[in-house]
Amino acid sequence: MTKQNMQALTFKRYGKSPDVGFRAVPRPTELKADELLVQVHAVGLNPIDNMIPTGMFKPVLQFQLPATIGSDLAGVVIQVGSQVTRFKVGDAIFASIFDTGKGALAEFAVVAESAAALKPARLDFVEAASIPMVGLTSWQALKERADIQSGQKVFIPAGSGGIGTFAIQLAKYFGATVATTTSSKNLALVKSLGADQVVDYTREEFDKVLKGYDLVLGTVRGDAIEKSVGILKPGSKIVSLVGPLDKAFAEARRLNFLLKFVFGLMSRKIIALSKKRFVSYSFLFVRPDGEQLSEISTLLETEQIKPVIDKVYSFAQAKEALDYLAQGRAKGKVVVKIV
Ligand SMILES: NC(=O)c1ccc[n+]([C@@H]2O[C@H](COP(=O)([O-])OP(=O)(O)OC[C@H]3O[C@@H](n4cnc5c(N)ncnc54)[C@H](OP(=O)(O)O)[C@@H]3O)[C@@H](O)[C@H]2O)c1
Repeated sequence: MTKQNMQALTFKRYGKSPDVGFRAVPRPTELKADELLVQVHAVGLNPIDNMIPTGMFKPVLQFQLPATIGSDLAGVVIQVGSQVTRFKVGDAIFASIFDTGKGALAEFAVVAESAAALKPARLDFVEAASIPMVGLTSWQALKERADIQSGQKVFIPAGSGGIGTFAIQLAKYFGATVATTTSSKNLALVKSLGADQVVDYTREEFDKVLKGYDLVLGTVRGDAIEKSVGILKPGSKIVSLVGPLDKAFAEARRLNFLLKFVFGLMSRKIIALSKKRFVSYSFLFVRPDGEQLSEISTLLETEQIKPVIDKVYSFAQAKEALDYLAQGRAKGKVVVKIV
């Protein structure tokens, strides 16, 4: 490896054999005026890190191949672009670089100033790297999209996952009553996060026991989203993180006519079902946002929300970490420690 190269976990092509592996790739040197160069200390993994190489998001997310995997990072700023004002060399930051065509599972990463926030001092790099995508998704779904109000009843299925462990705590912070689902082994965990009603999905079906809800966060694939319509009040909302993708999403991303048509078709059934019950359905795709991450940081500093970390892997074990996450049984977050 020459001095200008760095190690990164990359994939070479889309499909069934993406050839995920460590490669020496050029270490970023040229920064745009609004970018930071960060020495990456830790990377939090998310299910989409495994989905991108399959090509599932190829029509929506652009990467130059081979592409570096991962989007959530915590690290130290080692260089700043000429127009950067909020950060200086030596600052510890955390960020999501999702949807920027860049990757995090590398020794160094380029981060837009607008995507970064100062790392909460209370958290170490591993804890901080576990937060960005689940924190921003929960914030954008519960606060921005659904305008959650104190006293509302919110259903957050899969409470033991990366999203669930954060979103339950955030919904409780906003004063909501929270129901969740989990398997028997994780009942204690989700209760400890503040869930008011816990449905063990191995014993009961949530749509038989929950009713009168104001909001559902869609976190589980399959027919769970359709079933959740039945537990909602008229005037309530479903914000889905797992699809079906809808026309509004295609329009917001200025996708072509064909994709607008296809996504419209994919979401036709759930939108029709929802309308019948006077429920609104929308799909949410997280976006990086350093200002929101700063607000989330305050909640972490004051321990209103605590990171929940299942396993920490070394950089050399990053592929194992992705394989573990792909099993879908993580209790909280899976993080790769780079240094
Ligand atoms: N649209 C977006 O912008 C966006 C952003 C972030 C995430 N997402 C998506 O949101 C979903 C959740 O993400 P995540 O990070 O939370 O995933 P995750 O951490 O991999 O979720 C694993 C957890 O899901 C639970 N689980 C699995 N099947 C379940 C079921 N049928 N009912 C209840 N719990 C179940 C497991 O608990 P048990 O072992 O107890 O089953 C496990 O604790 C993923 O599909 C992800 O891609 C979308």
